[in-house]
Amino acid sequence: MNKLSNPKKGPYLASVSANRRIGTRFYRLNLSFQHQAAEAFTNAIPGQFAQLDLSKAALPALDAIPQDLIDCSQRKILLRRPFSFAEINTENGQTSVDILYCVLGPATLRMTTLKQGDSISVIGPLGNGFSIPENKKTALLIAGGMGAGPLLHLAQFLSTNHPDIETIAFAGAKTVKDLPFEKSLDKISQTLDFSLAEFARLGINSLVSTDDGSAGSKGFVTECLSSWLEKNRLSTNDTVIYACGPEPMLAKVAEISQQRNIDCQVSMERMMACGIGLCQSCAVECKKDNSNETVYKLCCKDGPVFDAKEVFFGKNNL
Ligand SMILES: Cc1cc2nc3c(=O)[nH]c(=O)nc-3n(C[C@H](O)[C@H](O)[C@H](O)COP(=O)(O)OP(=O)(O)OC[C@H]3O[C@@H](n4cnc5c(N)ncnc54)[C@H](O)[C@@H]3O)c2cc1C
Ligand code: FES
Repeated sequence: MNKLSNPKKGPYLASVSANRRIGTRFYRLNLSFQHQAAEAFTNAIPGQFAQLDLSKAALPALDAIPQDLIDCSQRKILLRRPFSFAEINTENGQTSVDILYCVLGPATLRMTTLKQGDSISVIGPLGNGFSIPENKKTALLIAGGMGAGPLLHLAQFLSTNHPDIETIAFAGAKTVKDLPFEKSLDKISQTLDFSLAEFARLGINSLVSTDDGSAGSKGFVTECLSSWLEKNRLSTNDTVIYACGPEPMLAKVAEISQQRNIDCQVSMERMMACGIGLCQSCAVECKKDNSNETVYKLCCKDGPVFDAKEVFFGKNNL
């Protein structure tokens, strides 16, 4: 995959084409870019992100604000917020970018009121995304909760540009309500069965797990991955694992891949003030040259995607 993205990062003006609610707290925002911005975003690499200015978006009506967000809803939005891409399509010089998002605080709350025809300022694409190492035959995508977004984009990229690589998605969440996908999820099969429509339409099989067993198999997505690897003894050299989700999940995926000597890339999340390497607010502790010493790298500039072997997830992971 071309690691070079467009050097021009905006700010660009995006037009909102749609903003659909797909779950209790999940939405899918579709932004439309034209001209130079369309060119920049058509080349965005899965795992890269954009900084959205949500300061001018309106708050929802008081009765539409979830009880637990009423206090924080009044906070001013001083900083842009980072979001990765779930899907990118280009047609007739116009690039459409889907963002899958979860309502967590004042900015994402305001994001829900964006409607068709609204404009927002976007900086991006930023950071380093996933790369496709040479000679891989199997790609395993491990999504925890909202980590699904960039892996859906990666699935789209792999099915379009690397149809020779067999791709399998593993999606996990605490409970069925925390799976950021559309359609009826409670009847999802525990087997490879094209169970998630978003992956199935790309010809990609998926496995689902929830901590409480309300969809798919019961347990962590990392347990699902381990038992799948146990059953399907793949050639480790031919396989690559990509993961995005909560940090404890990423640490476990890194451990599993290192034990089995499988290449693995993880997408890290940090609070980001600038998103372009200036404020130093997004440090990720990394191992220095495979030694026991560590150095700090910037999630926004050196990441958000890192080689799993590089990230220091804690003492147990050295
Ligand atoms: C590279 C990158 C890509 C992202 N992609 C997506 C995406 O595709 N979809 C999506 O829904 N969210 C994504 N996020 C997270 C998103 O940026 C935050 O949820 C958003 O900024 C929250 O803003 P807020 O004002 O609504 O809530 P805030 O009040 O800012 O945050 C709500 C809660 O979430 C925690 N939080 C917020 N941002 C982060 C973070 N970056 N790391 C760890 N904890 C955090 C806060 O500590 C707080 O507890 C991404 C973050 C990064 C760094
Ligand atoms: S967010 Fe400012 S340096 Fe990374």
